[in-house]
Amino acid sequence: MAPTQFRTLRLAIDGGLPVRSPDAGWPTWPQPAKGAEEELLTVLHSGRWALSSPYRGELSERRFADRFARYTGARHCIPTDHGSSALVIALESLGLDHGDLVLVPALTWTASATAVLRAGLVPVLVDVDPATGCVDPGTLDLDVGARAVIAVHWACSMADVPALTDIAGPRGMSVIEDAAQAHGAQWQGRHAGTLGRVGCFSMQHGKVLSAGEGGAVVTDDDDLAPVLQELRADSRRYGTDRRPGALELVEDPSTMGANFCMSEFNAALLCAQLGPLERQNAIRAANYDRLAGLLSGIPGVRLPWRRPQQDRLSLYEVPLILDPLPEGRDNAWAAQALSAELRTHVYTPRTPLSRSALLRPWTKPTIAPLADRFVALHRDRGYPGAEYVAGHAVVLHHSAFLGPPTDMDDIAEAVAKVVTGPGRHADEPRPGRTAKVGGHA
Ligand SMILES: Cc1ncc(COP(=O)(O)O)c(C=O)c1O
Repeated sequence: MAPTQFRTLRLAIDGGLPVRSPDAGWPTWPQPAKGAEEELLTVLHSGRWALSSPYRGELSERRFADRFARYTGARHCIPTDHGSSALVIALESLGLDHGDLVLVPALTWTASATAVLRAGLVPVLVDVDPATGCVDPGTLDLDVGARAVIAVHWACSMADVPALTDIAGPRGMSVIEDAAQAHGAQWQGRHAGTLGRVGCFSMQHGKVLSAGEGGAVVTDDDDLAPVLQELRADSRRYGTDRRPGALELVEDPSTMGANFCMSEFNAALLCAQLGPLERQNAIRAANYDRLAGLLSGIPGVRLPWRRPQQDRLSLYEVPLILDPLPEGRDNAWAAQALSAELRTHVYTPRTPLSRSALLRPWTKPTIAPLADRFVALHRDRGYPGAEYVAGHAVVLHHSAFLGPPTDMDDIAEAVAKVVTGPGRHADEPRPGRTAKVGGHA
């Protein structure tokens, strides 16, 4: 598809005809899976809404833990109430000292860094590879003296966790995978979340596996698993007493925890939502491949570079990198222009954490010493890779990839139209689309 074909078209943002027909619609998200309603009703009437209540039959929480462990291939799964809590207990389980430093990519959701502070540690923001949006093992900051690194699998890219482990391990640094955006992604046949020492997931509303809120930690480490259980259940872990009325959680702690338990409703819902995940991931991946093919014919647009070892995609968001940006415009404008063409929300990546309003630890007096250290450590750091992505990408949510392949044709057509530049041209019907015009311009 040659962008020149659209040169004479007025953009939808300027009052022209949108590429997307008004009756086409887009897949909604979240989508209740088959059996979700029954799962929720079963819990509702079970007399058991929480893990910390007396035994009355199999817990949904343990059922989900078993299923998610099997799905990812991990030996253990510890469900949590949020992905942020999963990160907090993962960090706490490592036995680091108060104030130790943890490397966190500058391009991620704020929780990857705030979890570090909540665990009594100090995040050190590091730059990302602009080709992937993930931390690059080749440029990882090893001089700062960090004890751990959070490897975020960003949007639809996977960080090279094996290479990060090879570099970080000999220096006594642990690698925590933040796989909040990567359920089902695989690296040489291994699931995201199982490549580092511990892997953390979020099941928040927008994620590809969702219960509205939720999270999980997975690990193969038999010693870490009971510690993680205690850290998320007020120092208690699963017991073996299955008599009705007995408590499922026993008090024999080795470490002090807090309450980060997943509710029975969320766990039951997740058991149902796990059912279609692989099928949905496959649909999204096939659509992504189709879009990649279509975009390859449009100069100035590219998808993130996918490392050859990443053999299975999981799309949380799909960033389209616009380089160069449309003449005289920024990517915020491009996102608005694409939203207008496609009649769906296209947006820009999050502001890098180095200047994010959501990461201001100095506003919290209870962590003042950690905040002071954070401020001092960040005085002279730069993030050209993260800034490049934040300034050149426009982002589509994974739900836009759940429909028919022809949806990708609309996305590619809209991109081609927008990258040719602002709508400064006269209206003319597009070749082959006049039948769809129908008077909604
Ligand atoms: C990369 C990343 N890490 C952590 C989280 C935190 O997860 P939650 O919102 O479930 O606490 C998110 C959620 O958006 C995320 O995208």
